Amino acid sequence: MRPGFETGHELPSAGSPGEPGAAVTPQNGEYTISVRSLWKVFGKNPERALEAQNLQKSKTKIQQELNLVVALKDVTFEATTGETFVVMGLSGSGKSTLVRCLIRLIEATSGDILVDGENIIDYDSNQLRNFRRSKVAMVFQNFGLLPHKNVLDNAAYGLEVRGVGKEQRYEVASEMLAKVGLTGWEGSYQRELSGGMQQRVGLARALALDPEILLMDEPFSGLDPLIRRQMRGELASLQEEIQKTIIFITHDLDEAVTVGDRIAIMKDGEIIQLGSPQDIIMNPVDDFVKEFTQGIPKTKVINVASIISEPELIIADWRRIEDLVAQMDRAGTEYAICVDTDNKYIGVIPKQKVTLLAGRPAGDLTDILHTDVATVHPETLLEQALAALVDATIPIPVVDGSNCFLGVAAQRDILMVIAANL
Ligand SMILES: Nc1ncnc2c1ncn2[C@@H]1O[C@H](COP(=O)(O)OP(=O)(O)OP(=O)(O)O)[C@@H](O)[C@H]1O
Ligand SMILES: [Mg+2]
Repeated sequence: MRPGFETGHELPSAGSPGEPGAAVTPQNGEYTISVRSLWKVFGKNPERALEAQNLQKSKTKIQQELNLVVALKDVTFEATTGETFVVMGLSGSGKSTLVRCLIRLIEATSGDILVDGENIIDYDSNQLRNFRRSKVAMVFQNFGLLPHKNVLDNAAYGLEVRGVGKEQRYEVASEMLAKVGLTGWEGSYQRELSGGMQQRVGLARALALDPEILLMDEPFSGLDPLIRRQMRGELASLQEEIQKTIIFITHDLDEAVTVGDRIAIMKDGEIIQLGSPQDIIMNPVDDFVKEFTQGIPKTKVINVASIISEPELIIADWRRIEDLVAQMDRAGTEYAICVDTDNKYIGVIPKQKVTLLAGRPAGDLTDILHTDVATVHPETLLEQALAALVDATIPIPVVDGSNCFLGVAAQRDILMVIAANL
């Protein structure tokens, strides 16, 4: 039995959410997309940039000496179903080149791109056409809408190109327009829509194709800041529902940490850091990444999992507790957490209330059990946990999605982390 745990209840682990660098593991053991040592060099005889004597040279040096532009240099990563994989970097770092290579709009100089285990680099033109029609869809920065078609026809356009009949494509398009919050706008034209709405149509059109992979190249860059922030939030919740493999390009770290499960930071065609938002913000690999991350408050990425602790006293069989005060004294605690025999969280008993019971026969403790105390999840950001702190007199209980008790988040720990990272 662990000290302080009267019931001997084992605390389940808080799990992986938020652990630095936690890679997303595919369910079937296969990544949707796996990019291996991808190079793209622009110029004459581009292979020269990959010769041994040139491999260590900088992009500038290669440009000066060989008149070649290294747009992608040995890029390797993978992404899987339900993951939003963000590629971030300054202008010219190779982001768009990467996306174009992923659908072979431009041909890579070297490397492999495996989609569902098949190397699309080896595809002939027929296979490539099939791949583009069935597995991948793209959302562009400039929306790519057709001005003479209304919203419904724009959303249905991809399906029309695929040869899907009117009735069916309208049905799917309407459903997707509803997903992006545009029901009622089917008959409108592009000129009648705000930028945010136009991008929602672009998104609905891509989703109507039901692709496995959604490529988004700076989709929100053309929008004003307020709408842009709103769209990020919407995309994050939409992804919860649709569970696609999203490759999302941005040059904005704030955007990257909001939508991304993992972020790859590119510089001069190379991925210089790849990790969870928390990883990137807390452990930047070099000064370049550090500078990028400086404007982002750390509380945006640090979650409760990182400060979770064990309470002094957990009571499972609380209806048969005979001397709760003595137990609390022994444990030196001001409260006890109540769980049921399946470790589901029930509530909290503060010591003050227990002392009221003195003299009463042991029995039902319902009237001293607080069940309305705010709880948090391990993945709750500390920033959001602050709200629960306002009324808290004891540490905040942490529960998982099925209400299993995981531990507590102590006020002191939350405030210490926030204070250290202001
Ligand atoms: N067709 C091309 N011919 C020659 N060089 C190119 C071509 N397309 C891109 N490049 C070069 O490749 C590098 C990467 O460009 P890319 O457009 O991928 O950058 P990016 O990260 O998308 O930038 P931005 O944020 O401005 O969109 C740049 O140095 C660019 O000059
Ligand atoms: Mg670009």
